[in-house]
Amino acid sequence: MSESLSKINPNEITIERITEKHNIKDFQSYEKELTKFLVEDALENQKKRISVTYLWFLRNDELVGYITVLNDRINLEGDLKTGFREKGIQYHSLPAIKIGRLCVDNRFLRRGVGTLMIDFVIRIAFQVYERYSGCRFLVLDAKRNKENEVIHFYKKQRFIALKEREKGITPMFFDLVNNIKFRL
Ligand SMILES: CC(C)(COP(=O)(O)OP(=O)(O)OC[C@H]1O[C@@H](n2cnc3c(N)ncnc32)[C@H](O)[C@@H]1OP(=O)(O)O)[C@@H](O)C(=O)NCCC(=O)NCCS
Repeated sequence: MSESLSKINPNEITIERITEKHNIKDFQSYEKELTKFLVEDALENQKKRISVTYLWFLRNDELVGYITVLNDRINLEGDLKTGFREKGIQYHSLPAIKIGRLCVDNRFLRRGVGTLMIDFVIRIAFQVYERYSGCRFLVLDAKRNKENEVIHFYKKQRFIALKEREKGITPMFFDLVNNIKFRL
């Protein structure tokens, strides 16, 4: 494997909630909307308690990615509803944590950062469940492009696609009960 694609060592990562003191101006993503969100909205949304954004630094210095999380729920419909009925769960919806945004800087793609960020949210969801509140799923809206690269990434993380609601967006979920043994 070439040096440029070697995996990032998780021990060299520090994670911080976004504050005014952070320098985020050098962050670059080919998904311009995600750079714009980080620069313009992430901190404001956090102050309004809409979401929390975690910045990922390599060696306390370089910003390699960010992830934004918030609370959500998943409506049980179709096969999902049938499956949960069979398990004796009759509710119309179940609690979830949503990955609102997830983005790795262009210079650090394909080095395992995205995968580490999914592990991080799984750990958050477990802490919520073990200490504070019910939480069954991770959910997100994956943006489709021509090669479906993002869908491929999330499928590799064991996310499952739900029925498409909007053009260009695939809602996906990760069942924390069924998948945890594969992840942590
Ligand atoms: C999607 C994204 C977060 C993945 O982050 P990453 O750190 O590059 O992903 P990882 O290195 O952890 O990849 C894990 C696996 O996912 C798959 N994968 C990741 N990126 C892929 C791509 N562009 N095409 C195909 N498969 C891909 C691969 O199987 C990869 O394993 P491998 O590199 O050993 O083959 C990153 O591409 C990104 O930030 N994209 C721009 C923003 C975006 O689209 N965010 C999602 C919004 S819904």
